[in-house]
Amino acid sequence: MFITFEGGEGSGKSTAIKALVKRLETEGHSVVLTREPGGTPISEQIREIILNKKNVEMDGMTEALLYAASRRQHIQEKILPALKEGKIVLCDRYLDSSLAYQGGARGLGIDRVYELNQFATEGLLPDITVFFALDPKIGLARIGANANREVNRLDVEKMEFHQRVYDSFMELARRFPDRYLIIDASKGPEEVANATYEAIQQKLHGN
Ligand code: TYD
Repeated sequence: MFITFEGGEGSGKSTAIKALVKRLETEGHSVVLTREPGGTPISEQIREIILNKKNVEMDGMTEALLYAASRRQHIQEKILPALKEGKIVLCDRYLDSSLAYQGGARGLGIDRVYELNQFATEGLLPDITVFFALDPKIGLARIGANANREVNRLDVEKMEFHQRVYDSFMELARRFPDRYLIIDASKGPEEVANATYEAIQQKLHGN
């Protein structure tokens, strides 16, 4: 079982994932939690290049290629081996982030970025993708209020960019209805965590 989590900045994604890991582990499941870009030493090194605020010259396609390269290494070294061992792999962001951020928001085109990622992933798609849906204005206000949080190169993008990210995720949910779950992230952390768990259970048990 491969489950990915997507959402804009400040959607409470990380908090909800942590709660889910705890719950699944309590139930006796063997869970691997990982994230993108990153998840392995090589992928984390690529992450540093991508998110470094000094890299202002970075071209959009270079960015998309680096995300895809980081993903490839992550899949080979960590995701596939864990899936082969029968573990539940939970990944904080995956392919859909590339489709929404680089494809939609940066304007490279969702189809083109999908094609690039087909090469990198050899078609590995999640069984479930949870999208934490939140108006980007609220999300950005939330992260603005959290002074301890590290600000990366993509956080400082303009509001329109974040709106395009949101719209792109909603478009992806329409394109891939079988694997997408939309969670209302405007609610409090506990409610979001419970809704995520319930929705995954329903999807898994087919009702
Ligand atoms: P991170 O600090 O992990 O953000 P978050 O806590 O919001 O998940 O930074 C990852 C950033 O990279 C985030 O702004 C989304 C962006 N991103 C892409 O643009 N494309 C991608 O393929 C991935 C995986 C992430």
